[in-house]
Amino acid sequence: MANVDLTIDGKTLSVPAGTTILEAARANGIRIPTLCFLKGLAPRASCRMCVVEVEGARTFQHACATKAREGMVVHTDTEAVRASRKLTLQLLLSDHAVDCHHCLRLGNSKCDDLDPRFCEMCFFCDCVKDGFCELQALAREYKVDVLPFSQKHNTRPVDASTVIVRNPNKCVKCKRCIDVCGQVQTVHNLAASGRGFAVTIGTAFGKSMAESGCVGCGRCVEVCPTGAIAALEHKDELVYYAHRDGVRTAATVSAELLPELERVLKLQPGSVKLAEIAGALKKIGVDAVYDTAQAEDAARAQAEEQLAEKLAQGGPVILTDSFAAKAFLEKNFPEKQEQFLFCASPLAAFDQATEVKYDKRFAFGPVGGDAVECEKTGCVDIAVNARELARIMIRTGAEPNPKRVSGFEELGAARSTGRYGRLLEKAAWNMEKEPEVFQMEGLRCAVCHNLGQARRLLESGEGYDVLRVIA
Ligand code: SF4
Ligand code: SF4
Ligand code: SF4
Ligand code: FES
Repeated sequence: MANVDLTIDGKTLSVPAGTTILEAARANGIRIPTLCFLKGLAPRASCRMCVVEVEGARTFQHACATKAREGMVVHTDTEAVRASRKLTLQLLLSDHAVDCHHCLRLGNSKCDDLDPRFCEMCFFCDCVKDGFCELQALAREYKVDVLPFSQKHNTRPVDASTVIVRNPNKCVKCKRCIDVCGQVQTVHNLAASGRGFAVTIGTAFGKSMAESGCVGCGRCVEVCPTGAIAALEHKDELVYYAHRDGVRTAATVSAELLPELERVLKLQPGSVKLAEIAGALKKIGVDAVYDTAQAEDAARAQAEEQLAEKLAQGGPVILTDSFAAKAFLEKNFPEKQEQFLFCASPLAAFDQATEVKYDKRFAFGPVGGDAVECEKTGCVDIAVNARELARIMIRTGAEPNPKRVSGFEELGAARSTGRYGRLLEKAAWNMEKEPEVFQMEGLRCAVCHNLGQARRLLESGEGYDVLRVIA
């Protein structure tokens, strides 16, 4: 493909034709702020945070949706551009239920005065996305201390009918959730209604999440830039049970939460060890701590056995250990139910191995659909994400400390043999990666990294001996 040459902030760049200004900038280490854009989804160009000045253009251009052209000269950080972005943020926050440590609600602090660690201790304001919120981070970066507009205090009802809580009063209408649910997962459970400022994001037919067609994959939670869709938190409950005498508690901790935890605690990437998390949890009173890698291995061991049995019976197999994928397959492909093989998830394997020993069990890991699986199956009592863990740590003084480490309990479950290699190896949901198709032990296998890929392959009529679905 031919290249085009352009200049961004005085830097001459050469990028493939069709590249957007945003992509060109990012590929060359130039940061342009975004709010609605999400890599892997088609740009909606709705938030105006990425506006840039293009010489010769009469208006600001959206960097996320404007293609680089030959000879283009772009300025990403002029005073006018910064003023426009700040105005955009002020407008967004004037129609937003601000109850985070941005302190707009209290009206007496400036961005530069705020110490996020002190704010974590504050009980006056709280938002589940505090410290992880893209809108909050931008408001601080652009020093939105006061709003030049009267603030509209929206009182749209919060939907807390499931552990995926929707709070429309914190929605910036970026539509990432609609696209990830519709285009990527092909569930189409979320939609926009109304126009302009009155636009509202909700379930497709205005139902509660509990009554809707949601399969519980949790991907909308993952992509929402604010606290408008978030997993229900249980930090007070967790600390209560951990402290309580006579209640036997256990936790399983995944190393996958470490990068987010380090980020929010402002620690160097790679500096926190899982054994320090185990030590911190013991400090707040958790009796036993397990490494989730053991539960993953135990789940895989079960899958190896079940798959061998199912293949011996003949016929293609559609395999998943995901609670959400199971719901999706049962709903959309009931005619293939003979082919389904629903294996235990790591949380379910942890449940099987620890059920009789403890009164309360907690799973610390990435957001995903774990919270929904816990709610629906009771496999563990509480699913906790990195943000919630960070806040528990700050509030209880149990932050990671190399001098306070603890070992892990032995799960005592069957160990994986590694059979079916690539097919069963650990893999995460991904919206950009193509499905993997390969031969193994004479079987034609496919691994789908999201529900949309699974739908596409299952509807394509292409024959697979084993198709694994990740939700
Ligand atoms: S949890 Fe998954 S299925 Fe449910 S609304 Fe969110 S993206 Fe859609
Ligand atoms: S709910 Fe979140 S992801 Fe969806 S439109 Fe609102 S802010 Fe964006
Ligand atoms: S969604 Fe973000 S900006 Fe809004 S209250 Fe929560 S943390 Fe603050
Ligand atoms: S990121 Fe470009 S308009 Fe939102």
